[in-house]
Amino acid sequence: MKILITGATGLIGQELVNLLIKNNYTIHYLTTSPQKIINKTNYYGFYWNPQEGKIDENCIEGVETIVHLAGASIANRWTKSYKTELIESRVLSANLLFNLLKKTPNQVKHFVSASGTAIYPDSYIKTYDETSTEIENSFLGNLVIKWEKSADQFQILNIKVAKLRTGVVFSEKGGALLEMIKPIKMYLGSGFGSGKQIQSWIHLTDVAHLYYFVIQNQTVGIINAVSPDTISNQDLTTQIAKHLKRPLFLPNIPKFIMKLILGEMHVLLFNSKNIKSVRIKEFGFKYKFSTVQSALKNSIK
Ligand SMILES: NC(=O)c1ccc[n+]([C@@H]2O[C@H](COP(=O)([O-])OP(=O)(O)OC[C@H]3O[C@@H](n4cnc5c(N)ncnc54)[C@H](OP(=O)(O)O)[C@@H]3O)[C@@H](O)[C@H]2O)c1
Repeated sequence: MKILITGATGLIGQELVNLLIKNNYTIHYLTTSPQKIINKTNYYGFYWNPQEGKIDENCIEGVETIVHLAGASIANRWTKSYKTELIESRVLSANLLFNLLKKTPNQVKHFVSASGTAIYPDSYIKTYDETSTEIENSFLGNLVIKWEKSADQFQILNIKVAKLRTGVVFSEKGGALLEMIKPIKMYLGSGFGSGKQIQSWIHLTDVAHLYYFVIQNQTVGIINAVSPDTISNQDLTTQIAKHLKRPLFLPNIPKFIMKLILGEMHVLLFNSKNIKSVRIKEFGFKYKFSTVQSALKNSIK
């Protein structure tokens, strides 16, 4: 079976590509970087530029499933122009694919899109699952709404749509965990604010296997891609320090300081998101790393 993946060169994409190729899938991938185009057995690259509306239309040939992972990183300062890029890299890219499918005969049956837990409101008390309808009224919350809407439009073409609202991905290969590890390694680790804010996370291996499960089963709808074991910022900081055998002696960093340093992006460190995945439980999906302990043991070498 042929799968078209956008953002295949990123953290989740690379893990998913390896898993799919191991299981005899053929990958077509769209990349914005011509230098990342390589063609080898079962792995073929195609150029696109969603901002300019450019796409190599051959990418769709023989494809039955599209996995849409492309998106500019949220871990850069959210200037006005970067906010536009955060939205456009996800939405214009989905629109470009939609318009291609609309005008070209194709065999696509399933559109699987990345999404974010940022859609759920910030709360110390409440937990949210896939049935929750409350939405966070913030830049990120609104970004996710636009992102998911751009995925939902594929239903007009009779294509099934799945959206994986993903928590922070833990991995030794990149992403937020590596950034949390750096200061702790340098004896400069500390929590943020009260440290009580909840982090919902998932290990890279599990998120790739979850995408694989969704692809194989042509699953539709919202799926919270999170582990069952959420953790507070303070406990996570302590656990990482324990794994690194580093002391924590600095006081927690107050919100206003991080706001001065990071600007609006500081919310990533202070928002509390206690997210549950009812659907993963229903699927009977077996996590490889269901506890913070096991995920950190694997990710901190
Ligand atoms: N990692 C996490 O913790 C996490 C959590 C929640 C949601 N997600 C979402 O899941 C998706 C995949 O995450 P990831 O961690 O694998 O991301 P990543 O490592 O940053 O990779 C994203 C890919 O998107 C493409 N991209 C970057 N900027 C782009 C732009 N302006 N226009 C079009 N494409 C662009 C790049 O591919 P090319 O250079 O090949 O074009 C890049 O490899 C993202 O949409 C992300 O927001 C991730």
